[in-house]
Amino acid sequence: MKIGIVGGGQLGRMLALAGVPLGLECRFLDPNPKAPAGAIAALRVGEFTDRRELRRLARHSEVVSFDWENVSVAALRAATRGSGTRIAPPLRALSIGQDRWAEKRLFERLGVPTTCYAAVDSRAALWRAAARIGLPGVLKTRRLGYDGKGQQVIRDHAGLDAAWRALGGVPLLYEEFVPFDAEVSGLGVRARDGSVALYPLVRNWHAQGILRLSMAPWRAPALERQAHRHVRAVLREFRYVGLLAIEFFVKRGRLIANELAPRVHNSGHWSIEGAVTSQFENHLRAIAGLPLGSVASVGHSAMINLIGRMPAAAELLRIPGLHLHDYGKAPRPGRKLGHCTLVAPDAALRNRRARRLLRALDLKLPGIP
Ligand SMILES: Nc1ncnc2c1ncn2[C@@H]1O[C@H](COP(=O)(O)OP(=O)(O)O)[C@@H](O)[C@H]1O
Ligand SMILES: [Mg+2]
Repeated sequence: MKIGIVGGGQLGRMLALAGVPLGLECRFLDPNPKAPAGAIAALRVGEFTDRRELRRLARHSEVVSFDWENVSVAALRAATRGSGTRIAPPLRALSIGQDRWAEKRLFERLGVPTTCYAAVDSRAALWRAAARIGLPGVLKTRRLGYDGKGQQVIRDHAGLDAAWRALGGVPLLYEEFVPFDAEVSGLGVRARDGSVALYPLVRNWHAQGILRLSMAPWRAPALERQAHRHVRAVLREFRYVGLLAIEFFVKRGRLIANELAPRVHNSGHWSIEGAVTSQFENHLRAIAGLPLGSVASVGHSAMINLIGRMPAAAELLRIPGLHLHDYGKAPRPGRKLGHCTLVAPDAALRNRRARRLLRALDLKLPGIP
């Protein structure tokens, strides 16, 4: 089966890799001729709004998906109209996943606890939002933010003007700053027949807004139950097909939804080696109309992102149980170039090896077990 994917980044590349054993052939559209997926699958170079290229992708595919959320909903809809090509996940989920304000409204509507927030489109609206919601807070662009880009933490009134100067001019969202105890994510996948599988809870550590470390399974049964309930509610709402991730803050044993991603997610990379069926394979199975695979964990995993500069493979691979993924991207500060996943037979050994690896990478993260 041929699958068209809009966006050929590392997520697309790992989707293509997962498709090979199943005979699922991915092809990509990306504006970057050096997009990572291009090294292993057919890549057409074109903008995400290029209707001709999108139509071409749809014509050559039985189903079209995307590897990041900032693709044009209107262009995708127009490109597949009348072609019989399905789009998965559903465009309604994609459209909400593009706008932080729409995500918060969705969470509220579904009874998923989220942060206090307000839409902000003027300096006066920002001051009003801060007066109502309080300080400190976080000002974020509603669209196009990722890896902590397009965000400003605001500590006091002086910070309000500075943040407005930095971000003002596009639709914004102001929300309370959550002094969280931890961050976790819930990943679930829904098949075309409506069956759902929910991955074990993942604990995440970010630095400067970028995910650095994920550990799974994260044994916190009460939190996992909450996360699964919330992921299931969103999957049901959209009659979703494919993989969905929700990021949460944990505060005093309760989850507060931060954002959702209508696609495979960085906090699910551990599942390539650490689960019976990876998030990538399950996404493809779902959108191809195949039965889902088991999401049970195999051992205890820690996934560490390699950002800005690739360490020497020979050093990393000395660590027992380590798997290295090099996306083949040119190094640049703050850029995700690869990741590695450690899988250990028990959580204590995983934690020990993860600490050793973090030291070797000179990475300090608070609260590592
Ligand atoms: N309201 C908040 N309170 C505290 N920390 C936050 C808040 N919003 C974001 N952060 C921190 O910044 C990270 C990135 O923000 P997020 O909203 O997830 O945007 P992105 O789309 O860049 O991932 C979060 O994982 C968290 O560590
Ligand atoms: Mg995030």
